[in-house]
Amino acid sequence: MTFSITAHDPQSKARTGTLTTDHGPIQTPIFMPVGTAGTVKAVHQRELETDINAEIILGNTYHLYLRPGLDVLGQAGGLHAFNGWRRPILTDSGGYQVYSLSNTRKIKEEGVTFKSHIDGSNHRFTPEGVMDIQRTIGADIIMAFDECTPYPCEYEYARKSMEMTHRWLDRCIGRFDETEGHYGYQQTLFPIVQGSTYPDLRRQSAEFIASKEREGNAIGGLAVGEPAEEMYSTIELVNSILPVDKPRYLMGVGTPANILEAISLGVDMFDCVMPTRNARHGLLFTTEGIMNMKNERWSRDFSPIDPGLGGYASTFYTKAYLRHLFKADELLSGQIASLHNLTFYLWLVRQARAHIAAGDFVAWKNGIIPKLMQRL
Ligand code: GUN
Repeated sequence: MTFSITAHDPQSKARTGTLTTDHGPIQTPIFMPVGTAGTVKAVHQRELETDINAEIILGNTYHLYLRPGLDVLGQAGGLHAFNGWRRPILTDSGGYQVYSLSNTRKIKEEGVTFKSHIDGSNHRFTPEGVMDIQRTIGADIIMAFDECTPYPCEYEYARKSMEMTHRWLDRCIGRFDETEGHYGYQQTLFPIVQGSTYPDLRRQSAEFIASKEREGNAIGGLAVGEPAEEMYSTIELVNSILPVDKPRYLMGVGTPANILEAISLGVDMFDCVMPTRNARHGLLFTTEGIMNMKNERWSRDFSPIDPGLGGYASTFYTKAYLRHLFKADELLSGQIASLHNLTFYLWLVRQARAHIAAGDFVAWKNGIIPKLMQRL
């Protein structure tokens, strides 16, 4: 994998770049649609490529390991061959889902034992095991096994957890570097900065992660309930330590405003369930603001969903029709809304890239955030 920076914004830390993987290039800053179980919910691979123009999608180790399982994925020839997605994939390590989804879990130095949220069966994730699993899934970018601390988090817990995440990272690197990808293309391992909202811990973690000199780095443990300002100051601190010439991935973030602010602090990659999950509940992000499609207000609005956005779903269907589909509980409602919201998120990062290249990113960001975040 290579990363080259193509432009710097003169007024902020924002930059554009190109990340090149064996499954093709990714223009940064980028938003990665979440495809937890090997599918971006309610969206076809063809729509992801042609309508949304997603350059990379996410998968989750926790879900894919439990279902369909490694036998099936290995026999299929990895996740790319299994789901037909030809572009890059990143898999999260399970270091988040195992805490948020599994019923009972025990975290120990060796690893985490947990019960499946699907059938209650017992499993164990270790740093080494999670590297092996992600080798079998075969994503281009794989994540280190970490503990994502909750918010708020006692200082002593955050410190001990961060130190364990660091020891786990050394074990991940040990296993990753002594193994190879199974399917004839390169994989790369990103470590994850933790440390809750404590500046001294975040500094220590960022220094430790930077010292590993991997091809890219991630910031975890944020957007877990802390105030936005605390998230931004943490990102600013961590990015002042992580190497400037490597991609930085902010995990699980966020709203359009969060993404633009983090881009201005030098973040290059994002993922979040927000556009797809909100879509299935009728909440749309548009170039005019946020719309709840279940509102009576849209019942006779026969204008396109978001003509300013372009793209199939946003220009072909009307607000009134989409509202009807939601009220009638029709499956197509979630499909149209997901396609629209992802088109919006990919539009947002494309706009950001264009404004960074043009040198007016900060003025554009400050002007557009209030509009994008207003409730219509
Ligand atoms: N997704 C969102 N936050 C995190 C995190 O801290 N760790 C991992 N592994 N995944 C995440």
